[in-house]
Order: sequence, then C-alpha cells, then structure tokens
Amino acid sequence: MARFAKPSKPTYMKKNNALLHAFNPKSKKLIVGLMSGTSLDGLDIALCEFSGYGIKTKCRVRAFETVAYTNEVKKRIREVFAQPLVDFQKLSTLNVYIAQLHANLVLQTLKKWKVRTENITCLASHGQTVFHAPQSLFPHADYNSTLQIGDGDHLAVATGILTLSDFRQKHIAAGGEGAPLAAYGDYLLFTKKNENRILVNVGGIANFTFLPGNGKTKEVIVSDTGPGNTLLDQLVQATVKGDSFDKDGQYAASGIVNKKLLKALLNNPFFKQIFPKTTGPELFNLAYLKKAQQASATQHLHFYDVMATLTYFTAYTLCKQISSITKNKKCKVYLSGGGAHNPTLVDAIKKNLSGISVENVQKLGFNPDAKEAILFATLANETLGGHTISIGNVKPYTLGKISLPY
Ligand SMILES: Nc1ncnc2c1ncn2[C@@H]1O[C@H](COP(=O)(O)OP(=O)(O)O)[C@@H](O)[C@H]1O
Ligand SMILES: [Mg+2]
Repeated sequence: MARFAKPSKPTYMKKNNALLHAFNPKSKKLIVGLMSGTSLDGLDIALCEFSGYGIKTKCRVRAFETVAYTNEVKKRIREVFAQPLVDFQKLSTLNVYIAQLHANLVLQTLKKWKVRTENITCLASHGQTVFHAPQSLFPHADYNSTLQIGDGDHLAVATGILTLSDFRQKHIAAGGEGAPLAAYGDYLLFTKKNENRILVNVGGIANFTFLPGNGKTKEVIVSDTGPGNTLLDQLVQATVKGDSFDKDGQYAASGIVNKKLLKALLNNPFFKQIFPKTTGPELFNLAYLKKAQQASATQHLHFYDVMATLTYFTAYTLCKQISSITKNKKCKVYLSGGGAHNPTLVDAIKKNLSGISVENVQKLGFNPDAKEAILFATLANETLGGHTISIGNVKPYTLGKISLPY
C-alpha cells in the first residue's frame, strides 16, 4: 500500500491562526479605526490602544490623522454616491478601488508613525457609505438597507492585517436601520455616573447619543437629527468654485436667516418621526433645498442668506430634537465631528440650547475629529473580546465581518 507523507500545515494556516489570538479578552489590543463619512472629506485614521472590554473598556488614542481625499477620489465616489441610478461596473470597481486606497493610506500613515503592521491587532474599517436606505425614507422597500464599500478582504490582504469591516449590516440583521452606531462606543467610552450626557456628532449628518447618568442601557437614546454639514457643503460646492465647505462658517455669518425659507425647510415628516431614526444625503440634498425655496418663493435670496438659513436650520433641528429629551433633566452636551469647527453653527447650537452646557468633546480628552474612527475601533475591540452589546430594543450582538489576510 502506498504511504502518504504526513501533510504539513500550510503556512497560511499558521499565519492566520497566529492572528486569531487577537480573539482574547485579556490581551491589550492596538486597533486602527478607519472612518470616511458622507462628507467625503477624507479618511480618518485613529491608532487606539485598548485594554478590557464592555464597561471596563479603556482606550488611549496613540495617534490620529485625517488623510484628505483628492479631487479624483471625490469625483469617483460622487459618481455613485446617493444616486438613484448607477453604472454597476463603476460601483463594482469602486468597491475594490476604495479598499486599495484605504489600505495604502493605512500603510503610509503607519510608516509615518513608525508603527509596524505586525504590532496592529486589527483594522476596524467603516468603509465608504454610498447609499443609506431606511424604509422610513424608502417606504416601498421591503427591508432597511445600507451600503458601505471598500471590501474588508482586500484591506486585509493588501495590509497583511486582520480586518473587521462592514459593521452596519449586523445592526440591520438584528432589527435596526444600520445607523447610528455611535451609541455603542459612546456608551462604553463616555458614560459618567450621575451625569446625563448628550454626545452630538456633526458630520455630513448630525446625530446624538443620550447617556443617562444611571448607566442603564435601556434608557440610552440614539438618533440622527437631520443634516449636519451636508447641505452647507453641497451648496458651497455648487456655488463657489474651489471651495468644498464654509470655512469657519464665514459665508453663513455674512448672511441673514430667512424665516420663510426656514419654515419651508422644516416642513418634512422626518423631523416628526420618533427616535431612533436615520437619514442621509439621499433626502437632504440640493433638490430638498430647491423644493423649499420654490415653496417659500425665496429662489432669489443671496447665497450668504441661504447659507445663514441652512446653518440655522441645521442647528435648530438638532437642538429641537435634543430638547425633547432634556425637558426635565439636567444634561451636558459634548460636540464632535467637523461641524464642531464651524463657529456660526456652534453659536446657533448654543443659542438654541440655552440653559444647557455645550462643550467640545475635547473637554473629555478626545479629539473631536477622531471620535467616529475611535468608536469603530471600540466596536472591533468588543467583537474580539467576544462581548455582545444591546442598546435600546435591538438584540444583543457582535458587530463587524472578519477578514483574514492569508
Ligand atoms: N473649519 C471648519 N469650518 C467649517 N466647517 C468645517 C470646518 N472643518 C470641517 N468642517 C466641516 O466638517 C465636514 C467634515 O466633517 P466630518 O465629521 O469629517 O464628517 P463625515 O463623518 O461626514 O466625514 C466638512 O465637510 C465641513 O463641512
Ligand atoms: Mg470625514
């Protein structure tokens, strides 16, 4: 009878097995959180050191950088971003292109920070949102859905780093809308005994997490509130060649809020829907503005006045919805996201939340631009620790798909 040589374990199994030791709740972890939101400004890269998980999570941010997207990258994403009709071949290619781009940016940035890839436990990649479709916005759809591209397998293979990605699908599978996911990380990193906190992130879309001082997860409230920077960015890009946003809120500060246009902008059922709810530029776009201008006969307003009105609209909708939960409670508000750099917007938020303390999340020791990337790193840390979490009425689960590099 022929004798067979005992098969040796292929090296890829050894290498992948070694990486699976990351699944150990006791070990310290170095996780790179990656976030690129609807503003399409760039990729946020946060190098986070974790120990513990669940309510014992400790996170130290060792380095952070936003690498700006080039105009070429923005152009390619915009060809499919929030579009009702897309060229499938472009979308399919973009899924790989974004992953390769993010992989290169991660490798370059780690090199710059003098951090070796072997020392990274995993990447936690949000991916680039190209479409967000809750049934509340698309009532004829048979499911909630959302699509983030920049595939995790490509990231893992291109960087040689274990990758967790596509965090939003599990949330939908468990009964949510796929967003906002901020509540999980906010709860773990920012809950403070005896202090009611509201963490507000003003990215393309604005969202908040209410963290009760009693620490009860069932009382945490998380929701989008409507536009963050998205309408401001879109109008600036369509009006001022070369500008991608209203730097320091200067255009808005030069105009006057138009009450008729404001009233028309507020006339949308989204603002009356109960929490939690999510939205995107699929709703809040220039067509939305145009419709409101037509309804209020304000098509000929000066650009500055439209910017002033949109900025106020953004602040007002955020504050009105926050106020609906702070009614009888003492709360502290902490701002993050790119919108926290816009003084005109921040002033309007402070005015509309009079009596409530409004601070930057920097006050809690976290960089406001890094917060979202840190939150996704936190979700990955939970998954590697084998820890499930449940907020509100969504079932307990772990988040993120796991891609092995070998
Ligand atoms: N100095 C600033 N003045 C006004 N707006 C700013 C400033 N810095 C950033 N922003 C706004 O923040 C946006 C980026 O915010 P970000 O939190 O990265 O959003 P996203 O998560 O959607 O990428 C920019 O598009 C811009 O609108
Ligand atoms: Mg961004």
